[in-house]
Amino acid sequence: MPATCVVGLQWGDEAKGKIVDLLSADHDFVVRYNGGANAGHTIVWGGRTFKLSLLPTGVLKPSVKSVIGNGVVVYPPRFLEEVDQLVAAGIPVGDNLVVSNHAHVIFPYHMEEERLVETAETRGAIGTTGRGIGPCYQDKVGRRFGVRVGELLRPDHLRERLRYVVPYKNRLMTAYANGHTDTLKRFDADQLTDEYLRYAERMKPFVTDTARLLHDGLHAGKKILFEAAQGSLLDVDHGTYPYVTSSSSLPSGVWTGSGVPARNLGRIIGVVKAYTTRVGRGPFPTELNDDTGERIRKVGREYGTVTGRPRRVGWFDAVAVRYTATLAGADEITVMLLDVLSGHPELKLCTAYRYDGETRAHFPSDSFELERCEPVFETLPGWSEDISMCRKLTDLPAAARRYVDRIGELAGLPVSVVSVGPDRDQTIHLK
Ligand code: IMP
Repeated sequence: MPATCVVGLQWGDEAKGKIVDLLSADHDFVVRYNGGANAGHTIVWGGRTFKLSLLPTGVLKPSVKSVIGNGVVVYPPRFLEEVDQLVAAGIPVGDNLVVSNHAHVIFPYHMEEERLVETAETRGAIGTTGRGIGPCYQDKVGRRFGVRVGELLRPDHLRERLRYVVPYKNRLMTAYANGHTDTLKRFDADQLTDEYLRYAERMKPFVTDTARLLHDGLHAGKKILFEAAQGSLLDVDHGTYPYVTSSSSLPSGVWTGSGVPARNLGRIIGVVKAYTTRVGRGPFPTELNDDTGERIRKVGREYGTVTGRPRRVGWFDAVAVRYTATLAGADEITVMLLDVLSGHPELKLCTAYRYDGETRAHFPSDSFELERCEPVFETLPGWSEDISMCRKLTDLPAAARRYVDRIGELAGLPVSVVSVGPDRDQTIHLK
């Protein structure tokens, strides 16, 4: 089968970028199909660290075609900043990067809309990344105010469109501000058009019909790697709604977000951390609000790549991973950041939940139920050794091997990779 999808099975930040980076050399295309600049990929490459939030990880390999699919929402200044960052580092970016003419465009009013709603009162707040993702997808699905990348290339049309959209947005924001107009931003349609036309000039060479490009690639026998952004528990349909993102982060998003039919997906790799993290609000049954959690946060450098927020940290939740692995159709899992757990006398794995006095093995599809679930833990012995130099399964201490095996057993899937550090070579391949 020509296509593979790498997908996070938790709440994001599972280190998917490293797996994509390891696999990208064997593929012709690396494609993002969902999300926008809310995704943080940290890639250590050639001894240097790159933080990308919008461009596909594949862009570091000029021999691979990197595709921003139609399901992504694009903030042009961010797109250009990331291109400039790579070029400044000596990484060529040219016809190896393309962006869909159907991808929707994020404008500053989307971010302002989000800021107003997120800060107005805590009741409606989700704890978003503030990148305008939700409001842009709202406009896409609502159809009245959405602007696609292809429209940026038609100056007269864009001006006319923004002259229609912006006054609505200004009125909407005045309403959201609910009298607190002191910090309220107003937008000018013509100024915004001029600004975005400047971006469009630079983006033009990258814009194309990416669905057709991928179909042509499939016909020519090319291999495609899909790179999910965010984790499956943040999927707008199957995640912990409403504390989710606004796109389909599960592989179900591949078809709509790229135009490539799902039957081309021959391999789905579920990526998990050896523990769990979450950024933003929402239920998190295995959360650790103690010294153990603080220690994992520090050792794992668990601070958001995009927002810098400390990530919430907890034990590995096998109930959640079984749920997302099933929804994702995962064939295998990769266990990341195992080295972060060195030095704990014992480790816990959540194998079930207690809910209303009952023990449940399944993940509730309803967040309100999840909020009332208490984890049932299995305790395993920890290990004290530094494992970051291990390169074979047999190099790992017996307790670390046991821990990885148990994650695989509980997830019901083979473990194909164990990662013991951020570098490419800090990787144990199991098959
Ligand atoms: P949004 O995607 O900015 O709308 O944020 C919605 C929720 O998804 C918030 O809880 C964010 O913290 C979370 N989120 C969005 N992108 C990521 C990511 O790449 N990693 C982890 N959490 C994310």
